[in-house]
Amino acid sequence: MSFSKPYTLITGASSGIGFELAVIMAFKSHNLVLTARSEEKLNNIARQLIKNHGIDAISIPADLSVATDRDKLIGEIRNRNIHIENLVNNAGFGDLGAFETSDWLKNEEMIQLNITALTHLTREFLPDMRKAKSGRIMNVASIAAFMPGPLMSVYYASKAYVLSFGEALAGELAGSGVKITTLCPGPVETGFQKKAEFKDPALLKMIKPATALEIANYGYNSMMSGKRLAINGWMNRFMVFGLRFSPRWVVLPLIKRLHQ
Ligand SMILES: NC(=O)c1ccc[n+]([C@@H]2O[C@H](COP(=O)([O-])OP(=O)(O)OC[C@H]3O[C@@H](n4cnc5c(N)ncnc54)[C@H](OP(=O)(O)O)[C@@H]3O)[C@@H](O)[C@H]2O)c1
Repeated sequence: MSFSKPYTLITGASSGIGFELAVIMAFKSHNLVLTARSEEKLNNIARQLIKNHGIDAISIPADLSVATDRDKLIGEIRNRNIHIENLVNNAGFGDLGAFETSDWLKNEEMIQLNITALTHLTREFLPDMRKAKSGRIMNVASIAAFMPGPLMSVYYASKAYVLSFGEALAGELAGSGVKITTLCPGPVETGFQKKAEFKDPALLKMIKPATALEIANYGYNSMMSGKRLAINGWMNRFMVFGLRFSPRWVVLPLIKRLHQ
C-alpha cells in the first residue's frame, strides 16, 4: 500500500507545548499540519518553520470544540491527500473554581475539546496508520489524570479519560506498528494558568513549573520511542506512585487546598 508524503498533525500548535513541539518536529524534518483557533499566529508559525527548516507546514485554523470545524479540518487534510503519520492531540484547557458556580458553556467546550476532539481525530487517522503498519499518536493528558481534582473537577476528569483511553488503545494496538503515548506533564509555564483563571495558586508556589520546551522535548522523545506512559520528572513520578497507596480522604482535601 502506498501513501502520500507523511505529515504530523499537531493540535493547539499556536502556543505553549504545542508550539514548542512544532518547532522540535520541524527541526527533525517532519512535515506538519498545524491547527488551533488563532489563524494569524498559525500562519506566521508555519511560514517561519518552512523558512527555517525547509519542511512543508500547513496551517488549518479550527475551533476543535466544534464538530463542523473538526469536519472541515479532516476534509481539508483528505482533499490535499495528506497522510497523517503522527498525530499529537495537545489542544486543551482547564478552568479553576467550584463546579456549582461554573459556566456551563465553558464546561461543555472543555469536554468537547479535551475529550471529544481528541477521540474524534484519533478515530479518523488511526485506520490509515494501521494500514501503513506504522504511526505515532501522542495524547496530552496531565498528572491531573491520576486523581480527582476538587475545584477543577471537570478538567481532572477529562484528563482521566485521556489517560484511560490512551492506555486502552495502547493495549488494542500492541504489535500493530502503531504506538500510543499518553503524556502526563506536571505544571508547565504556559498560557494555560491564565486561561484557567489561576490567581495565586499554592500549587505553583510549591512546585517549580517546567518550561514548555522541556515538556515538548520530553514528549517528542517519548512519542518517537513508543513509550506508553510519559510522566516528566522524578517528583511527578513519585507523586503518581504515592497516589496508588493514598486513600481519597487524604488526597481530596490536599488537592482542594492546592487549588485555593
Ligand atoms: N500548562 C500546564 O501546566 C499543563 C499541565 C499538564 C497538562 N497540560 C496540557 O497541555 C496541553 C497544552 O496546554 P498548554 O499548557 O500548552 O496551554 P496553552 O499555551 O494555553 O495552549 C493551548 C493550545 O490549545 C489551543 N486551543 C485552545 N482551545 C482550542 C479550541 N477550542 N480549538 C482549537 N485549539 C484550541 C490554543 O490555541 P488557540 O487559542 O489559538 O485556539 C493553544 O494553541 C493541554 O491539553 C493542557 O491540558 C498543561
